[in-house]
Amino acid sequence: MSDLADSLQQLQTDALAELAAAADAGAVEALRASLFGRSGRLTFLLRGLGETDPGERPAVGKLANEVRAAVEGAINERLATLRAVDAGARLADETLDMTAPGRPVRVGHLHPTMAVERDFREIFHAFGFEIFEGPEIETDAMNFEALNIPPDHPSRDLWDTLYVAEPGADPRQPAADGTILRTHTSPVQVRAMRALTPPIRAITPGRCFRYEAVDASHGFEFFQVEGLVVDRDTSLADLKGMLEEFARALYGDGTKTRFRPGYYPFTEPSVAFDIGCLVCGGPGCPACGRSGWMTILGAGMVHPSVLRAGGIDPDEFQGYAFGTGLDRITLLRYGIPDLRLLMSADLRFLEQFPGGR
Ligand code: DAH
Repeated sequence: MSDLADSLQQLQTDALAELAAAADAGAVEALRASLFGRSGRLTFLLRGLGETDPGERPAVGKLANEVRAAVEGAINERLATLRAVDAGARLADETLDMTAPGRPVRVGHLHPTMAVERDFREIFHAFGFEIFEGPEIETDAMNFEALNIPPDHPSRDLWDTLYVAEPGADPRQPAADGTILRTHTSPVQVRAMRALTPPIRAITPGRCFRYEAVDASHGFEFFQVEGLVVDRDTSLADLKGMLEEFARALYGDGTKTRFRPGYYPFTEPSVAFDIGCLVCGGPGCPACGRSGWMTILGAGMVHPSVLRAGGIDPDEFQGYAFGTGLDRITLLRYGIPDLRLLMSADLRFLEQFPGGR
């Protein structure tokens, strides 16, 4: 056999010995590079193959392949063993204390007002209403004019408005472009009429803003739910029946209700809807102004001008609407004495209430 064959056999013997001496995966990888790398020892020998005697070349070529396969196989096997030993050592080092207390997971819940809002969504969903939401930043045109409240009309005094002003300007003065924070969810009625085709049944929950002196029952920020039904032959009787069902769903079967005349520019006729006082149940107490009744919402038949602003022909369709504040309902439900507590974002307070998820 040729010198090359001897060298190949010698290399195999050396390589296997070095492999046996390699203590860790790093050393094995270094050995692999010193053999098979571009200037590796085996690579070098193989380059000499072209110069061997043509008669011997097939036998030497076969030997070269065998040496390469043997060394490579041994290297891979050794690496696998070393890795298994490593993993075993790591496992042996680690301990798992099954008795250690777990890390507490903080689970939040809905804010009480949002829990009430969710009840509204569920009740009206059962009545076949869809949810339709509108923007909190509105225009004077939508918040007032589309709702039959012209500029300078005295009824504007019902809504103390926050105007979105240029930096530095007086926020109580109308901005030139008419941008305001919505004072109620009623403009969403008009948006719903424009977006949906009758018959319409929608509720529009959302946050509203007013220029208020903040006290136990007034906030500059609060939540309303508006309801809108537009259909043929809708009547005040439908509104009354629906609200009575709603009051029973929210407050229980025995709930007393009554309708009173009211005034809103966007409904004609307008009504106030009362339930029997939740605190005294009837005889009268400070919470109900000694009347035995609590007003929970305003409602009425949608004014023809409002239908027209929504792109609906009042000769073909009628509708009713109602609007209510969620905050007061929440205070009453949980017996909370001060609205400011609800807006306090104080978890020690808020966590006392079941909130749902
Ligand atoms: N938007 C009224 C308010 O903020 C509430 C209201 C009353 C809404 C009567 C209505 C309605 O849709 O018909 O005081």
